Amino acid sequence: MRIRAGRESDWRHVARGNAEAAWLSFAPRYVPAIPVSTFKARARRFDLRLRADGAARRALFIAEDELGYAGHVWLEERGDPCSLERYTVVLTLYVTRRARGHGTGRRLLRQAYRWGRRSGHARVQLSVAPHNATALALYRSEGFETFLYSQTRPL
Ligand SMILES: CC(C)(COP(=O)(O)OP(=O)(O)OC[C@H]1O[C@@H](n2cnc3c(N)ncnc32)[C@H](O)[C@@H]1OP(=O)(O)O)[C@@H](O)C(=O)NCCC(=O)NCCS
Repeated sequence: MRIRAGRESDWRHVARGNAEAAWLSFAPRYVPAIPVSTFKARARRFDLRLRADGAARRALFIAEDELGYAGHVWLEERGDPCSLERYTVVLTLYVTRRARGHGTGRRLLRQAYRWGRRSGHARVQLSVAPHNATALALYRSEGFETFLYSQTRPL
């Protein structure tokens, strides 16, 4: 398993992983339920728009094994308008099903820390759905703490 910088040709895998990860966070209990295919098609279009928008600094790293693409981490630099702090945001962390449970997710996260430190950031932030027990266990074991709760209620 090796981690390398992402290339344009990786995007067919990355877009699929991003859509899958977004679907896992989707909460039809709170928002209108739509077919998975519609959801993923929209997620891919959203990705395309984000990639075309050069306003933010982003980075993509790919995990690769003997079978090829095994996962990725997609990162963005954000800034707080009040404190002026710059920090790393994990937009997506994704590992293919076949590669899960072998430390790939952890290695990709650690690559995110390296990118953040090289960028002069002191902190990394991400969002995770409360039902994603696997990701929560990984983040907890890596020292992540809850920073903000996102709350909702029907109107
Ligand atoms: C979450 C995800 C990235 C983890 O990747 P992974 O390569 O399987 O994770 P690792 O092998 O590095 O495991 C690291 C830790 O995660 C936790 N973990 C991994 N698989 C787990 C499972 N099936 N159940 C519970 N915890 C699990 C453990 O704490 C593990 O540490 P340990 O091996 O020392 O016990 C992967 O499951 C995934 O891509 N899921 C779908 C997309 C997603 O949920 N992304 C995150 C959105 S916020």
